[in-house]
Amino acid sequence: MSCSSCHLPEFSFTDGKAKSLGVDGLLGKRSSMSLLDIAFSYKGLFWDGRAKNMEEQALMPVIDPVELHETWPNVVEKFKKHNDYPVLFRKAFGIKSKDEITEKLATKAIAQFERLIISSGNSKYDRFLRGEVLLDDDELDGFDMFFNNTFNLPDAQCGHCHNAPLFTTNDYFNNGLTAAATLNDFVDKGRGVVTGIALDNGKFRVPTLRNIALTAPYMHNGSILTLEDVVDHYSRGGHPSINKDPLITQVVLTSRQKQQLIKFLHTLTDTAAIRNPAIQNPF
Ligand code: HEC
Ligand code: HEC
Repeated sequence: MSCSSCHLPEFSFTDGKAKSLGVDGLLGKRSSMSLLDIAFSYKGLFWDGRAKNMEEQALMPVIDPVELHETWPNVVEKFKKHNDYPVLFRKAFGIKSKDEITEKLATKAIAQFERLIISSGNSKYDRFLRGEVLLDDDELDGFDMFFNNTFNLPDAQCGHCHNAPLFTTNDYFNNGLTAAATLNDFVDKGRGVVTGIALDNGKFRVPTLRNIALTAPYMHNGSILTLEDVVDHYSRGGHPSINKDPLITQVVLTSRQKQQLIKFLHTLTDTAAIRNPAIQNPF
């Protein structure tokens, strides 16, 4: 297995599964995340933000028992004995001998690669903003509801948390995904485990919606299968819990309006970003 076993370019660097399977066939507890634009995630990585930056993050899957289940000394030995890597490390970091290969250099290389996984700026939405294409009437109504641009249509509230240009504030919220009677009843306590603050239990980082049409199933636990179901979830106002965000309330949308919102989400598809030749599998 490699990082790309769970982060595939065609799924905008997710794996298309509700929860990821690790090297020993064990099921992880969360859904793989898109790596698009993570270079701009400045408030922590992972659904709960437990990794400070990409270099620190890249250390973790390697030693995670339900992911790659390896040790770093072992991995570094494999690099040293590999046909290609010693030369590549020398070129990248100017080291004199393969004995200078370290986990630190490996994670620097991975993070630098991840900085290439960025939006092309050529999704239909981006071209619309630059005046190069028009959105059709449905997409336009979806856009207006998403960002609450007009009094003529309901405010779907989305843009407050998934705001432009990244379609995330990178903050942590409880979007009503799971019901919980008390703050201790969330199946996955998420952000609360990292901060130690009970009110953060059940909160997760807002993910980008760029390329969202490519990354089903949705949410940290992969529990929502389609964008139709996502929009239904929000329009019902989610499930009850004490710290559910006040923006997650019932929004009355007709079935036409729900479809319009989804059509707008499809304008965020950016195939140029994931087809960038620089980020394809070199092997
Ligand atoms: C077994 C599947 C699997 C493998 C292998 C894997 N990942 Fe992940 N990745 C995940 C899952 C699941 C998450 C979310 C985990 C969480 O939030 O607790 C994730 C999250 C991430 C994130 C956070 C993205 C964000 O927006 O916060 C990054 C970055 C990442 N992985 C990079 C890597 C790298 C680099 C490797 C290889 C060293 C790797 N992954 C290997 C499944 C995997
Ligand atoms: C209060 C902030 C907030 C609002 C408002 C909000 N979201 Fe979210 N959204 C989140 C959070 C937080 C998550 C991650 C929740 C989780 O996985 O537990 C999320 C997840 C999602 C996902 C799944 C992303 C993925 O990668 O799995 C989609 C799709 C989504 N939201 C779309 C929308 C739409 C459409 C609207 C408007 C109808 C909306 N959101 C309104 C905070 C919000």
